[in-house]
Amino acid sequence: MSQLQKICKAHLVTILLAFFLASKANAQTTMANVASRNLISLNGKWKALSDPGAVGDWKKIWMEPKPQKKTDFFEYSFGGAPELNVPGDFNSQVCELAFYEGAVWYKKTATLFKKKNTRQFLYFGAVNYSADVYLNEEKLGSHEGGFTPFQFEITDKIKDGDNTIIVKTDNRRLENGIPGLGFDWLNYGGIIRDVKVIETPGTYIADYFIQLKKGSLNSVLGWVQLNGEHLNQKITVRIPELNIAYKTKADSSGYAKLEFLSKFKLWSPQNPKRYHVILQCATDSITDEIGFRSIETKGSEILLNKKPIFIKAVNIHEENPIKKARAFSLEDDRLLLNSAKELGCNLVRLAHYPHNEDMIKEAEKMGLMVWSELPIYQNIKFSDSLVPYKMQDMLQEMIARDKNRCSVVVWSLSNETYPGTPNRDKALIDLTEKCKAIDSTRLITHVINTQGYTNNSFHIWDTLYKYSDLIALNEYIGWYIPWQGKPSEVKWKIDFSNKPVFISEFGAEALYGNRNVPADQASYWSEEYQEQVYKNQIEMFKTIPNLRGVCPWLLFDYRSLGRMHPVYQKGYNRKGLISENGEKKKAWFIMNDYYTKKEE
Ligand code: GCU
Repeated sequence: MSQLQKICKAHLVTILLAFFLASKANAQTTMANVASRNLISLNGKWKALSDPGAVGDWKKIWMEPKPQKKTDFFEYSFGGAPELNVPGDFNSQVCELAFYEGAVWYKKTATLFKKKNTRQFLYFGAVNYSADVYLNEEKLGSHEGGFTPFQFEITDKIKDGDNTIIVKTDNRRLENGIPGLGFDWLNYGGIIRDVKVIETPGTYIADYFIQLKKGSLNSVLGWVQLNGEHLNQKITVRIPELNIAYKTKADSSGYAKLEFLSKFKLWSPQNPKRYHVILQCATDSITDEIGFRSIETKGSEILLNKKPIFIKAVNIHEENPIKKARAFSLEDDRLLLNSAKELGCNLVRLAHYPHNEDMIKEAEKMGLMVWSELPIYQNIKFSDSLVPYKMQDMLQEMIARDKNRCSVVVWSLSNETYPGTPNRDKALIDLTEKCKAIDSTRLITHVINTQGYTNNSFHIWDTLYKYSDLIALNEYIGWYIPWQGKPSEVKWKIDFSNKPVFISEFGAEALYGNRNVPADQASYWSEEYQEQVYKNQIEMFKTIPNLRGVCPWLLFDYRSLGRMHPVYQKGYNRKGLISENGEKKKAWFIMNDYYTKKEE
């Protein structure tokens, strides 16, 4: 490349980056603990226009021009448009949109009023994959990323009475998206989680972090961040049950460090204890229910509250199998989490993206640890100049929302990315450092499947393991890769052998009810074949040094367009232990028996 070409490329990258950052103008990371605020729900029926021709921007749909002269006409209108339920993916609501990947424009009229000493924010729980948000014909900003919340301050933009909110959602996959062009789940699009108007005082408690210091069972190390004009305020953090009333004072930036000791009843799966916490300053007061626990590794052990544990997990996609739709409600969450409890789990791996906030809160109440994961999945274009910025945004948004949820014990930063991809190692090592800097109290890991399996021996080697607290590997021996010997005789060579090993995915497919067919042939998708894979895997687990947890892929059969077999799959990945109709396969009983007998 000539010098001139290099200069032009550098300028182009700068322009792209400037455009990307500018287009994100105003899309803020959300305030902490939205649920504790005065909220105006905008859930319900929204007008919707699908825009497969992607002409809405060009036509400036958000302006909603009305015919002025008799000869005027416009080839779009929300008047007379169909309606979609919000929250909820659009694919499962309208059969013509079942596999749609494109733009859908939503409109809602909200009756709002300016209030003295009150600030107002427009909040979205998640929009997949991107959102351009307009209020009364003015663009508030954009957000990219289908699984984390965002907000816009609208205090000075609303008018008393009816306000028009128009959102362009677009679930087209992007080569430099996160995830990228290919992923093994249905690309549900639209406003998939709650929409609310949040009200706060003029100066309010915008953010806080209240958790035990890494490695401590009695010392809280955290902070509070105020936002507004009166920042040098005294702040009190109360935990009435512990007679704590910790007092501090915010600095000129509104920041105040927290550090106090107490004797906590520690949160655990057996005793999911949470405390009522009150945060107060002169202008604001909010409450939260916070659990306190310690999670760390020590050599090859995973320690929960200083005691070694074995993680009995299961993978879950955010899909209500019965509704065949993106899960978003408490009812959806409880269906999935109760099923994980019934299997005998103490942890749920929320694959492969942050699930809705209530999923994490419900897990915390039920005594389920949570593995939360970024959709940095398989084929990511790490060499694209925007991708590291997008990764960091998603990391910050994921942690901002859930950092006070003690159920979250693992931040997983990637799944099965390809070693050798340009910039992959550097981008993910940088992201790991950023994650550690934001939150050092949890385990941080990358999920890998680059291990070699030859001569019935595994060689675990990926560079990223050096930066992970866990050796988390996905292996499908017995399904994608036939056994090369007896499961009980598998040998292991693990380059970072002093760390806990976690089998983050294993399993096989079966169509529920497909029995009494040749049980030794994978191509029949029989329950017996899947059952045998589980028996063999459990046999192999005994050979794994430092094994500290396993996580079958996955709880329910789920939708994925690449799963095309017309008899056995019909658009479903059939690795579920349970069918999409809630029927337990034979393998479910093998796994349940293993967890029942396995020491925690
Ligand atoms: C991979 C991947 C999953 C995928 C699974 C499968 O390990 O992490 O997202 O669904 O394999 O092939 O079923």
